[in-house]
Amino acid sequence: MPQAPHVFHDPALLRTEIRKAQADGKRVGLVPTMGALHQGHLSLVAESQKSCDLTVVTIFVNPTQFAPGEDFAKYPRTLEADLKLLSEFDPVWVLVPEVDAMYPPGSTTEVKAPEIALPLEGTFRPIHFDGVATIVLKLFQVAPADAAFFGQKDYQQVRVIEEMVRDLIVPIEIVRCPIIRESDGLAMSSRNRYLSSEEREIALSISRSLHDAVQQIVGGETDAQLLRDRIEHALREAGFREIDYVSIASPHTLESVETIEGDVVILVAAKVGTTRLIDNVLVSFPVSS
Ligand code: PAJ
Repeated sequence: MPQAPHVFHDPALLRTEIRKAQADGKRVGLVPTMGALHQGHLSLVAESQKSCDLTVVTIFVNPTQFAPGEDFAKYPRTLEADLKLLSEFDPVWVLVPEVDAMYPPGSTTEVKAPEIALPLEGTFRPIHFDGVATIVLKLFQVAPADAAFFGQKDYQQVRVIEEMVRDLIVPIEIVRCPIIRESDGLAMSSRNRYLSSEEREIALSISRSLHDAVQQIVGGETDAQLLRDRIEHALREAGFREIDYVSIASPHTLESVETIEGDVVILVAAKVGTTRLIDNVLVSFPVSS
């Protein structure tokens, strides 16, 4: 029978227990999440389990990374189901802190995210990555793991974390994990549950158009503007009215490229109804289908 995972509410207690486990020679992995877990999150737990003796999953809907008017209040909170999913993994510890435990009353200190946070998501969600960097650094403090696992689904986010860890000399290894998709290609996301069936059909055009763009690059296309235009056209044809960006960029700097002659990442953010979706694909040279 799967065991219910051990749940901590007190970050200080979790830190003490992690330190004890490490003193016993255990390697500890950390998977930060906002809950509403799906197979994408669970793939990070599985990846952690490959190299770590103990995995700590944090579930915390972080208020500071949502701007007023974004979906903080309605963000899905499904703790019971999350714990059930995590019970398939052992040993897993789960931290579910109160807001006051992560933001002690009166606290005003925050992390200013590195410059890589400025383009793309940064243009549309200006405070988002400062909030992400702040909470992730706090989570690294309360769960001083040896390695932390992040999904490439949020490509710019993992770049922000990598740069923050380098800049602030945080002693933790950052492991990037591949995007997990539904069988039809839609990138898994806690926000997919907001989609009506009609919206979900429209949403599918994101992964399809990314896939088509990769095929064109494999076929020798090097004109980034042409590919951006084709992706945008495909999204509009499918029914997207609000496209925040379609970018073909350097995977390292996220600067837009004109000619595709080395590795690129293609990133899309678009809104269907009230749901904002992001997806991306990394194209590594030499390319093959
Ligand atoms: P959340 O959206 O819950 O995502 C938690 C982790 O799961 C992130 O590293 C994200 O990239 C990864 N993830 C989500 N969908 C995925 C998919 N389809 N395939 C692979 N990995 C996927 O990202 C956050 O929470 C927050 O910003 C957080 C880092 C926890 C800070 O609050």
